[in-house]
Amino acid sequence: VNKAVQTMSKWGVPTVTFDNKSEHHKQQLIEGAAELCAIFRDRFGLDLFVAYGVLLGFTRAGDFIGHDDDFDLAYISPLKTKAEIYRQSVEIVEALIGLGYQVRLTSYGQYKLIKRAKRERLKFEIFVGWTEEDRTYLYFGIDKGVDPSAFLPIGQRDFHGVSLPIPNDPARVNAAIYGPGWREPDPDFRYELDKEKWRPFLFLRSAPNLGYWNDYYAGKRPDEPWSLSPSPFAAFTAEHRERGRLLEIGCGNGRDSLFFASQGFDVHGVDYCETAVALCAERARQAAAPAQFEPLNLYDVAQVAAFINANADAFDTLYARFFVHAVTETGEAELLKLAARVLKPGGRVYLEFRTREDGRAAVGRPISDSEREDGHYRRFIDVDALIEHAGRHGFSVAYRVAGHGMAAFGGEDPHVARLVLEKPRDGAGAD
Ligand SMILES: C[S@@+](CC[C@H](N)C(=O)[O-])C[C@H]1O[C@@H](n2cnc3c(N)ncnc32)[C@H](O)[C@@H]1O
Repeated sequence: VNKAVQTMSKWGVPTVTFDNKSEHHKQQLIEGAAELCAIFRDRFGLDLFVAYGVLLGFTRAGDFIGHDDDFDLAYISPLKTKAEIYRQSVEIVEALIGLGYQVRLTSYGQYKLIKRAKRERLKFEIFVGWTEEDRTYLYFGIDKGVDPSAFLPIGQRDFHGVSLPIPNDPARVNAAIYGPGWREPDPDFRYELDKEKWRPFLFLRSAPNLGYWNDYYAGKRPDEPWSLSPSPFAAFTAEHRERGRLLEIGCGNGRDSLFFASQGFDVHGVDYCETAVALCAERARQAAAPAQFEPLNLYDVAQVAAFINANADAFDTLYARFFVHAVTETGEAELLKLAARVLKPGGRVYLEFRTREDGRAAVGRPISDSEREDGHYRRFIDVDALIEHAGRHGFSVAYRVAGHGMAAFGGEDPHVARLVLEKPRDGAGAD
């Protein structure tokens, strides 16, 4: 593709739009869409259909929209609860990565797929829909819902010689997304993205609670004395653990990472909060410490897969303090999966977290049996369940203790557990 014909996509990113793509590329894209429809049907039992810009272009003028650059597809999940719809999306994304697609998540309701085929880079975008109280919603575009008959039963139409699934009534779907004037091309069309419009889609976010952590770390200075001393758990870890490469997950302001660096560990810190990562990097620079930091979101299975690929068997120690109770079950699952893959055989995981016995487990707004919102999200951990979960990834318990007196801070003495897990030395058992 000729770089000279790059323009701005609707997301403000430089790209080559359909105006400047070859017929061959468009044909490959349509065939790639057919392949994705087959994958969704055969592996996930879902009817993917042509959506958004591609549906608009073909129903309006029988072709792609010139200034668009990818192939939009969507499905309506038949699942009833938001937790199930979210989980289904996570599993689909994981499976697509396994099939060789490169994935970039905007959320679990909208993600880009890139497939390389015969020197072409084919771009697709998948959107998630669902039905609630007899209204069907579509991530990003349909926040007020439409009658399910706009989508179902799925129909078919021809796209340059290839038959692909489409919504039952494309005109109604287009009107719901783009308004009653959808038939007339409008070069100035902009989506309205106010807070109210986002509310129905929030449950599919791939970085929940990030706003809280961004606010928390914003305005913190690299040299603030309160944040300079390490946690007691970091001191415990440094006392017991041989030196080597240490990965800290959820490194926050970097106090423990920088301490480990000062103790002779080669430190790599990650956190999904970019404000925190920038703060850590600045502190490491000022201290000339052997510590590197990068953003990594443990809810984003695509980012985790890329991190695993780049760091297989690379670390001696994985350290995560007050992280497991700060993330959902998806975060815990990704943490254990990542640990099983990025640790060397015999490598160890050091975890400290709030347990179900912690006093705060009864404070604030309940979200589920084990989760609470009290200024921010917390999940109170059943230690046996976590050990069982870790066992499924091949880990054995090297050390375990729970109680008060280990993480007292600012007048609070939480009930916490310390858990040290070991990856098998022969590498067996880890998935
Ligand atoms: C309670 S703080 C603990 C910070 C630090 N480990 C400490 O003990 O002071 C939890 C940290 O986890 C980070 N975090 C939460 N969810 C995350 C996710 N999905 N991926 C990566 N980091 C996350 C937050 O940004 C925050 O820095």
